[in-house]
Amino acid sequence: RERPVIAIDGPAGAGKSTMAAHLARRFGFLNLETGAMYRALAFKAIDNDLGFEDEDALVALADETRIVLEPQLEGNRVFLDGVDVSRRVREADVTAAASKVSVHPRLRAWMVDQQRLMGQKGGVVMEGRDIGTVVFPDAEVKIFLDAAPEVRGNRRYRQSGPVQTKFTEQSSTTEEAMVRELKERDERDRNRAESPLRPAEDAIILDSTSMTLDEVLAAAEAIVRSHV
Ligand code: C5P
Repeated sequence: RERPVIAIDGPAGAGKSTMAAHLARRFGFLNLETGAMYRALAFKAIDNDLGFEDEDALVALADETRIVLEPQLEGNRVFLDGVDVSRRVREADVTAAASKVSVHPRLRAWMVDQQRLMGQKGGVVMEGRDIGTVVFPDAEVKIFLDAAPEVRGNRRYRQSGPVQTKFTEQSSTTEEAMVRELKERDERDRNRAESPLRPAEDAIILDSTSMTLDEVLAAAEAIVRSHV
């Protein structure tokens, strides 16, 4: 390939998407959120009443599915069979479902094939869980972005904002629920047999637990500059 691949992996809520979008803007690359592909397929599985354990059915479904990521300045728009599902796939039921369908090896192989095609020419920042380990083990830059679960949950919570209407009070259980949900997804991602979440041996590990967003972005930018 003519241009580099920047691989960004790490647990949910670590700030990978923000980092990917920033690096893509700075260096003129495309940012590709692979999680959105798992989310899109999970949404289609929900829509078709498929069980998340049924790998055969999920792979058959994938084989008649077209998922397109359209890079934007912030994140990706996601098209499922030509329909924009960008908003829907961020909802909680799809988030949980994506984490469950992504354990299946043959479904992952289907995703990885497409992701390699999408990145084959380089000039991409690809973000996910297995980019540096499986999708592009030869990526020019690999960053593993981590942070303590409580910090990730808290950032997510403040990002989404407390759901507050005249009927509901801001409740502290919402943030707790978010931390719990992140931990559950992490456990599944780290403990699955196929392509578990882990840093590649040659990945640069950034722990953003006690860093500001600006510090994290500056660190990522410096890493890319020194490698490409
Ligand atoms: O990154 P995002 O939160 O959108 O990913 C949703 C889910 O998809 C993750 O919880 C993970 O289980 C799965 N995923 C994956 N491999 C990737 C990207 C996402 O298994 N490369």
